Amino acid sequence: MHTIVLAIQKGGSGKSTLAIGLARAAIDAGHTVRLIETDQQGTLSNWQSRRSYAEPRVDPVYAAGDIAERLRNLADEGVTLAIVDTAGGVGAATSAAIRNADLCLIPARPSVVDIEATAVTLAEVRRAAKPFAFVLNQTPIRGQRIASAASTLGEGALDIPDAVAQPFIVMRNDHQDALSAGLAVSEYAPSGKSADEIRRLWSWIESRLGIVAVMLVEDVNELPVATMPAVQPSAEAFTFV
Ligand SMILES: Nc1ncnc2c1ncn2[C@@H]1O[C@H](COP(=O)(O)OP(=O)(O)OP(=O)(O)O)[C@@H](O)[C@H]1O
Ligand SMILES: [Mg+2]
Repeated sequence: MHTIVLAIQKGGSGKSTLAIGLARAAIDAGHTVRLIETDQQGTLSNWQSRRSYAEPRVDPVYAAGDIAERLRNLADEGVTLAIVDTAGGVGAATSAAIRNADLCLIPARPSVVDIEATAVTLAEVRRAAKPFAFVLNQTPIRGQRIASAASTLGEGALDIPDAVAQPFIVMRNDHQDALSAGLAVSEYAPSGKSADEIRRLWSWIESRLGIVAVMLVEDVNELPVATMPAVQPSAEAFTFV
């Protein structure tokens, strides 16, 4: 199982929105996904209560000490991807989530205050020696500000290739309307640009993690040998100290 953690101390950067969007995109790519909510604000639980589909399930895990064990249990249950949505600010649950991550995603809007706010989270991620990427979210469609934000973020991690995830996620109503309807953006407007960006962001993450797409099959023994899914590669190649 791979564990992705969305974290940044700044509120409203898009942790929960991206967690939901990526969960759906990963399901569509063949993963068995669980959303873990460590934020007592309950954004994901509230979203699920507005939703009429069972998947992805949301597991609230608010106690820092419970996170590692819950992740182990999910792996035993056959979940292939856990996406952890953390609270803004700094807290024990977020630190525990980061310590258990295979990849930390740090969302930031292209504004100086958001970019400054990445520093605390980045320091924690680096202390835990975890792979990470910034996700530029709520960007305008075009403009100098995006390029400048991306290069400022990249400068904070010059030692790391691919420190800024692609593509950037543009600010569009689809994201907010989807959440209100209890949907992921690719369910709300499957052929929209936002859905397309989130699917491409998932593909980027998959390749960053070195995940080969899991195949949706009822019985893996029925597959011809040549099409057997590859074993999960390790994330170690992306661990930066
Ligand atoms: N790309 C986007 N386009 C438009 N709206 C967005 C986008 N990303 C997030 N939003 C909206 O911005 C608001 C904040 O997003 P979200 O709740 O996901 O942030 P968060 O980082 O989880 O915040 P918190 O720290 O409070 O948990 C929400 O209303 C959400 O719908
Ligand atoms: Mg949130």
